[in-house]
Amino acid sequence: MQIIRAKHAGFCFGVKRAVDKTLQLAKEGKKLCTLGDLIHNTIFVEYLKEKGIRSVESLLEVQEGECVVIRSHGVAPECYEQLEAQGISYVDCTCPFVARIHERVSREKSCHDAIIIIGKAEHPEVVGIKGWAGEHAYVVASPEDIRHLPPVNTALVVCQTTIRQELADALFSEIQQRIPGAELFNSICETTRQRQEETRLLAQKSDAMVVIGDKKSSNTRKLYEIALKFCNNTQYIESVDELLLEKFLNCDIISIVAGASAPDWIIREVETQMSEFEHAQVAEEEVKAAEEQ
Ligand code: F3S
Repeated sequence: MQIIRAKHAGFCFGVKRAVDKTLQLAKEGKKLCTLGDLIHNTIFVEYLKEKGIRSVESLLEVQEGECVVIRSHGVAPECYEQLEAQGISYVDCTCPFVARIHERVSREKSCHDAIIIIGKAEHPEVVGIKGWAGEHAYVVASPEDIRHLPPVNTALVVCQTTIRQELADALFSEIQQRIPGAELFNSICETTRQRQEETRLLAQKSDAMVVIGDKKSSNTRKLYEIALKFCNNTQYIESVDELLLEKFLNCDIISIVAGASAPDWIIREVETQMSEFEHAQVAEEEVKAAEEQ
């Protein structure tokens, strides 16, 4: 049995940057709260709570003396205005790749009839981008959404950083049929692309796949969908407690992939348990072989 861990597994650059900064400030004694969960991982959010870093849903919940952490997903400009107006201190951990989308839509919103965002309307990153894109911004996640777009002549199309490339390609083609002059800023993050491609390659050669990440994490769910497409024996787990070792019986190659918000310690726990299972299997086979002699 061979266990392969994906080269790109766990915290991406933007998440790691936000987590490191937050933990560093907490260590320095800063009283912090995060605006929304810092990352889409319940286990990690609990860990932050234990360190005294709570998560708030709105600025109304911020207490005297607390510094607000803006997570890697970014926020709409109104949020900065509110922070300034209420005199709340904050640390901005917006991922630079997301900030790049904010700048582009903000700069070009007056040059186009519409800014179209390919992504999930309720995803915090998309909510933030929509805020920067102004009043003629539309979010599309399906051909149906595209059919409901108002008639426009020009549009700038951007993507949520974590959506599947195939989905973005398919939806952009549809948009082009309605708006021939539509311009694409392919803002899918390179990290996302790499992980999706690596997951596809691993799933194609593996007998079993383990996808680690929170069930609420959209980038992890996409990895799961890709893995499942090429490997029926795929498990989507949040922690080692959910791992079903019996699914690895008679498997030669098992691969582990993890979403951008999966902490390294959870990946290592899964890996360790799988290695122990592998050793137990080898030992069992050796005993059987010895008995047969
Ligand atoms: Fe940033 Fe890409 Fe991660 S946009 S938050 S590095 S998935």
